[in-house]
Amino acid sequence: MAGKITVLIGSPRANGNSAKIAKIIADECQAKGKEVKTFQLDKIDGLRGCRACNGCKSTRKCISKDATLPILESIAESEAIVLSTPLYFNMESGQLKLVLDRFYGFLTADFQTFLPGTQKAAIVVSCMTGEESAENCAAHLQQVCAMCGIQNVGTIAVADPDDEKKIVTSEVIARAKDIAHKL
Ligand SMILES: Cc1cc2nc3c(=O)[nH]c(=O)nc-3n(C[C@H](O)[C@H](O)[C@H](O)COP(=O)(O)O)c2cc1C
Repeated sequence: MAGKITVLIGSPRANGNSAKIAKIIADECQAKGKEVKTFQLDKIDGLRGCRACNGCKSTRKCISKDATLPILESIAESEAIVLSTPLYFNMESGQLKLVLDRFYGFLTADFQTFLPGTQKAAIVVSCMTGEESAENCAAHLQQVCAMCGIQNVGTIAVADPDDEKKIVTSEVIARAKDIAHKL
């Protein structure tokens, strides 16, 4: 677990804004000697949501042997995660939501975490105009992490109504690098 970071790219745009910011965090972590494992969720065939089978409650891990399993295993082995997503209709992307629901497999029946409780998270949400909604979405992602014992150490919620290419400013890059050092 020591030294490993799992990065989830929730945008279908591999070079979109949230992915770019997540990559800055990942690159900074790598430069610090961390092992980074990135999952571009839109490129993974066969992602499925939680089936509410409750198998995880007796096995202490998700029992669905599908494309999401390596992602969950990577998270369980990591000291930190990066969750990045565009804002879609005021929420995270469907690609990320599918994986988030599978975090249920990290929880006991009474919502205690199977994870060590020492892991950290960075959260990135990019939107066009809905900055407040992006902040709410980030708060929701933070809550999911907290339930699993993963502490959010830095959120970047960015909006640009005029030209989305302007989102990744030098200030945002500096903030992303700063968060990477807290992971
Ligand atoms: C399906 C869809 C829904 C969207 N919904 C919102 C929204 O509710 N609020 C908003 O501000 N932007 C919305 N957008 C714009 C994206 O959030 C915005 O372009 C974002 O910066 C894209 O992030 P990315 O570059 O990481 O893909 C939506 C875009 C799409 C494709």
